[in-house]
Amino acid sequence: MKKWFLLVLTLVFVFVISGCSTSDRTETASEQTESVTESERSDTDGLPKNKYNSESSSENESKSSVLVVYFSRTGEQYGVGEIDKGNTAIVAEMIADKTEADMFEILPVDDHYPMTYDALTDVAKQEQSDNARPEYSGGVPDLSQYDTVFMGAPVWWGDWPMIMYTFFENEDLSGKTLVPFSTHAGSGISGFDSKLSAACPASNVLDGLAVTGADAQNNPDSVRITVDEWLYDIGY
Ligand SMILES: Cc1cc2nc3c(=O)[nH]c(=O)nc-3n(C[C@H](O)[C@H](O)[C@H](O)COP(=O)(O)O)c2cc1C
Repeated sequence: MKKWFLLVLTLVFVFVISGCSTSDRTETASEQTESVTESERSDTDGLPKNKYNSESSSENESKSSVLVVYFSRTGEQYGVGEIDKGNTAIVAEMIADKTEADMFEILPVDDHYPMTYDALTDVAKQEQSDNARPEYSGGVPDLSQYDTVFMGAPVWWGDWPMIMYTFFENEDLSGKTLVPFSTHAGSGISGFDSKLSAACPASNVLDGLAVTGADAQNNPDSVRITVDEWLYDIGY
């Protein structure tokens, strides 16, 4: 009877010991899973990429070698009435979207340009007769970063607005590829390319794109296709 009692007691003891060790293993395994997950989190998800990690923080800074410079007016414009976004600005954004370019808008220092069409044509005509060089506001990006600069403006009296000549003459565009584009009401590219070449003889000027202001404003989907095809033709 004593032997049987001892045998049962031993079996119970063995069973209890083995049960405990099984549950210990389970816990350890789940702790390990947890700690691997935590360490993975702190190495990857825990650090917001593109922000703190040195490799990706530089990705946040602009590395584009392409810049889109443009001048454009809102207010009353030919054939489109009152507009909130300038015709040339619309095309400039399409180019920048496709080429992943940075953008720079030329803004007059002292905005003396009227918001009504007739008055604006008078001021523009006077500037052209005076061969004026209206000033634009600062904040021009460091141009040395860019190989290619798209240059866009509305056609004013068959030519670039005079403020664009201020930019061509003030900034060092030598050695860069310059790509002109215009919006207009029927005059097309209006010699933007040859005039840009004459103003920037040390640059390589490509053939330009001309889009009517009315199309830019009213048919943006078809203009985007035209812009994309043109960009494709010149290597984008
Ligand atoms: C002062 C002035 C002169 C213009 N001269 C011409 C011109 O010679 N030929 C032409 O086709 N369109 C001419 N236009 C029409 C503009 O080129 C056209 O409306 C353009 O899309 C405006 O672009 P924006 O909204 O970016 O300023 C002239 C417009 C203005 C305000």
